Amino acid sequence: MTDALFQNLERDFLLSKEKLAPIVSGFANEYKHGLKTPSRGLATMIPSFVTKLPKGNETGSFLSLDLGGTNLRISAVELLGNGQVRVLELKQSPSQELKTGAGAAFFDWIADAVKELITVKAPHLFTEAQVRGEVTLSLGVCWSFPVDQSAVDRGVILRMGKGFTLQETEGHDLADMFQQAFERKSLNVKVRAILNDTVGTLVAHAYSNPKARIGLIYATGINSAYPEKVEAIEKMDSAVRNKYPPGTEMLINAEIDIFGNESYLPLTKYDLALDASHNQPKFQIYEKMVSGAYLGELVRLIAIDFIKADLLFGGVVPEGLEELWSFPTAYMSALEAEADSLNREKGMEILSNFHFLHMPTLQDMAILTRICRIVATRSAYLASVAIASLIQQQQLLDQPEIVVGITGSTYEFYPHMADRLRCALREWFGADVTDKIKLEIARDGGSIGGALIAMLCRD
Ligand code: GLC
Repeated sequence: MTDALFQNLERDFLLSKEKLAPIVSGFANEYKHGLKTPSRGLATMIPSFVTKLPKGNETGSFLSLDLGGTNLRISAVELLGNGQVRVLELKQSPSQELKTGAGAAFFDWIADAVKELITVKAPHLFTEAQVRGEVTLSLGVCWSFPVDQSAVDRGVILRMGKGFTLQETEGHDLADMFQQAFERKSLNVKVRAILNDTVGTLVAHAYSNPKARIGLIYATGINSAYPEKVEAIEKMDSAVRNKYPPGTEMLINAEIDIFGNESYLPLTKYDLALDASHNQPKFQIYEKMVSGAYLGELVRLIAIDFIKADLLFGGVVPEGLEELWSFPTAYMSALEAEADSLNREKGMEILSNFHFLHMPTLQDMAILTRICRIVATRSAYLASVAIASLIQQQQLLDQPEIVVGITGSTYEFYPHMADRLRCALREWFGADVTDKIKLEIARDGGSIGGALIAMLCRD
């Protein structure tokens, strides 16, 4: 019986080359469509207006700000040349009230943190006139949410996701929201660049490896960026396009998170159930199958099915597990990290938030871990589509080396994720091409990328 349930699960979740094919071509169509469809409301293939990548020898000190799903990081970044950097950062997490309250209050909270960095934490990194506010400080803003950009330092805030439902924010210009808060707080700071975290990752990685052609975030969310020929970005006004010399490439924030629909994504009943219970249903369907924010919930839904079939935990749902989102992805990585030597005590420690009527058996732990492995493996295979399709979009297959800068908790901290991603690429491309693909960890895409773009776009 357990075998039958696992067989069904594996049939639906494991992706062979044949099953990957429609997803890769679905992505190719999304790129094509997104490059010519004006960004309104929900946007994909967003031009960043960044047309230069760093060479690794740039120097100077810059301010950057990085807002992701969990943390706000404000950094003083010193570019030291030779691909080297030094970062002094201030990190805070917004409360639930801030994430769901008035936009202005949220931006005031950010402005207070910027002030603290400049005047309390890192005054020694700036000139006295900058600290006193007599000289303007340049800021690069890395915004890990969709923004419809109209210039490197202008962009309209689109629907946010990741638990953010700020009021009076959507449709406003992001730089204006910052600038107004800086004024309210008497800060002499100017937003020089707005960038998506994927663009930041690609730029930051190019500082240490100028061959980088893909930036991938594989974290709470998933998204990618790559350089596209300006003439191919049909959604951009031709008068704007013509300003760039022929052959210029511009980084594109693909917003693959919102790609996909049932026509080409292999959605299972668990994906549909997760989506239906989410506060933003029908939004970011691909991301909901892949990224760290969701994997735990998928495991929870599957585990409940196993319990109901009397195949797990003696057929009794442990107290707490019936609650939506009660099984975070971190539990999956903890279980998988222990997999080979998992004993009941360790397992109970990981699952200590739940109350069991009967002490779980070792077999229970093994079943739960196997479910985690299946869900995480599908995630890696789906993430590989992001890379494979961008390699094809850029026609990089003939290159001797294909460099991808990746960052994010799901990729970096989930056990075996990097191997699984490589396995998926091998399934799609075969061993020879996969050997040429370098999956390199790009650190601090947000802060370093923000500083680099603020620098590249100063003039
Ligand atoms: C979400 C955001 C996207 C971001 C990604 C990775 O998908 O919508 O803008 O790049 O997460 O953080």
